[in-house]
Amino acid sequence: MISIESVKNEYKNDIKNSLDIDKIESKYLSRKGYIAQLFKSIKDMSDDKKSKYGQQLNKLKEDIENYIVKNKLSKDIQDNIEINPVNSVDISNQLGSLSPISRLIFKIQDIFAELGFSVAIGPELESEKYNFDLLNIPDNHPARDVWDTMWVQSPDGIKSLLRTHTSPVQIRYMENHKPPIRIIAPGKVYRYEATDATHETVFHQVEGLFLDEQASIATFKGVIEYFFKELFKQDIKIRLRPSYFPFTEPSFEIDIRIDNKWLEIAGAGMVNRKVLENGGIKDKNIQGFAFGFGVERLAMIIYKIDDIRLIHSADIRFASQLGKIKL
Ligand code: PHE
Repeated sequence: MISIESVKNEYKNDIKNSLDIDKIESKYLSRKGYIAQLFKSIKDMSDDKKSKYGQQLNKLKEDIENYIVKNKLSKDIQDNIEINPVNSVDISNQLGSLSPISRLIFKIQDIFAELGFSVAIGPELESEKYNFDLLNIPDNHPARDVWDTMWVQSPDGIKSLLRTHTSPVQIRYMENHKPPIRIIAPGKVYRYEATDATHETVFHQVEGLFLDEQASIATFKGVIEYFFKELFKQDIKIRLRPSYFPFTEPSFEIDIRIDNKWLEIAGAGMVNRKVLENGGIKDKNIQGFAFGFGVERLAMIIYKIDDIRLIHSADIRFASQLGKIKL
């Protein structure tokens, strides 16, 4: 025969011996468990005994229920900890961090800051005027075809586009600042073209503009050489090849020597007088140079990536690998 006393004692023993929580539950609280059995004997008791017995039994039942709820909760937590022990999971990679491209842009800004360049930002939604006309690329100019353009229909009738390069920032900056000017303008640009391992429709450029009375091609070479040496932390050979851009005259392509190969890395040139005038600079003594390069292209060289599409793939594994590379 069991009694409240004997069940209580056994229960205390079971707790002391840390009997499994599920076993305690079925042993005491199941339909045929001890508590249910004890409740059955109530019906044979006298009324005054019944209420006292009932109270004691209910108290014991509550104690056991509370014990079970509490310990089941901690058992769940325990089980999860075993599956996923906090200490064994490296959460450092899962914290948000700068994208490899942002990191590179900050690095570029730091290097140019040492040469006295500040950062200027222009809009990604541009007008045809700033992206083309004021840069000496009028409508029907064959050079427009170089920049496959994403046109945007705007309600006010102004022909808008997603800027195809960061060069419009040159004009915007000249309109609001007097020379001497030393700026770089990083940002997104858009090209309406098919993507492949070396082409993306959206990528980043860094534009540079340096204007004063002395700025010459020699100054330009010095600045560019300094930049690439600092970026790659080694002596980088550069080479200028004649090229054509409507907004510079003369124009160059800049090649850098990496792994015994010449890589085309930037467009550049002395700022075309027409462009200076379009930017409101009338002083004939002011001259200078501009350059523009693709950030993803640089990133591919620095991080040794062979497919540009990986860069914006939003794959955490990729980003966290690059995150470990020190710039
Ligand atoms: N805007 C040019 C391009 O996107 C690059 C460039 C910038 C060339 C400045 C010359 C001067 O190709």
